Amino acid sequence: MEDKKLIFSGIQPTGTFTLGNYIGAVRNWKPLQDEYNCIYCVVDMHAITVRQDPIKLRQNTLNSYALLMACGIDVEKSILFIQSHVKTHAELSWILGCNTQFGELSRMTQFKDKSQRHADDVNSGLFTYPVLMAADILAYNADLVPVGVDQKQHLELARNIAQRFNQRYGDFFTLPEPYIAEIGAKVMSLQDPTKKMSKSDDNPNAVILILDDKDTIIRKFKRAVTDSEAEVCYRDGKDGINNLMTIYSSVTGKNFAEIESEFSGKGYGDFKLAVGEAVADHLEPIRTEFARLSADKAYLKKCYTEGAEKAIRYSQRIVSKVYRKVGFVDKT
Ligand code: TYM
Repeated sequence: MEDKKLIFSGIQPTGTFTLGNYIGAVRNWKPLQDEYNCIYCVVDMHAITVRQDPIKLRQNTLNSYALLMACGIDVEKSILFIQSHVKTHAELSWILGCNTQFGELSRMTQFKDKSQRHADDVNSGLFTYPVLMAADILAYNADLVPVGVDQKQHLELARNIAQRFNQRYGDFFTLPEPYIAEIGAKVMSLQDPTKKMSKSDDNPNAVILILDDKDTIIRKFKRAVTDSEAEVCYRDGKDGINNLMTIYSSVTGKNFAEIESEFSGKGYGDFKLAVGEAVADHLEPIRTEFARLSADKAYLKKCYTEGAEKAIRYSQRIVSKVYRKVGFVDKT
């Protein structure tokens, strides 16, 4: 690999990403490929921290892989792989877990949220999830991690774990920095704009999926919750409009002042329709490319097999050094 900074990021295999995943993370991954060495991963091992139907998980993992390619992740430029194909993540995770405090993991807000939502299955994988995430990143000694705001706490923990390891065993891990976009790092629900847009929302109208068709996208935007004023402007307290402006800005490249003047004197109906159309048009080529790619199973298999081989080669060197540092006996 060329001598550039290293980017690592991952996404759960939900099959079709939300507009939040796309604007907050995946969309930024594409341009980074020109400036950095990039490693991206579909995190199927993270997914089983909540109950999954095995048949759907397999299908959703393959769809997520194809969808990342459709979003512009280029397997010639970047390493793109499926997490469970690369066993170094699990190996490193064990070692990092032995350098992570119970108290630190107990403070993770995502664990608290998820253990409430899945109260009948608060398994230890859900609890140690952030350790595996730290291993994903540290197995490559990544410099930068492009994520949405909701992953910031996990990333801070990854830094703390790396720092503790370095203090105990001597400087080794790079402390990874979050790389968070200025606009769209937290896309909100269309039905409750004080809450993050999330695929696990019970209300399907709250969430745009990037494989939704144009009519569905427009219908969901038309129903978006706003406020009782009639002024398209970005201001505290106008959570719904602020969210729609953020989304519109991300897909059109227009800044807030331009959007305010474009819709001055117009009602929310016009604005919502324009946002819906802009989003649907922006996502159209991704949907087309996804359909093309996901029909070519042999090509996909070749891509994820080669991606895993490259990821194994890269991370094995690092994890072998970690084994030596902690005092494990060399096998060869
Ligand atoms: P996941 O799969 O929940 O989300 C993938 C990415 O999408 C971002 N995101 C959002 N951004 C803005 N607005 C939203 N409403 C929104 N919803 C999701 C997330 O911040 C994330 O960047 N634990 C991670 C996956 C992971 C990972 C890693 C990430 C595993 N290992 C190593 C980075 C590095 C997760 O569950 O993301």
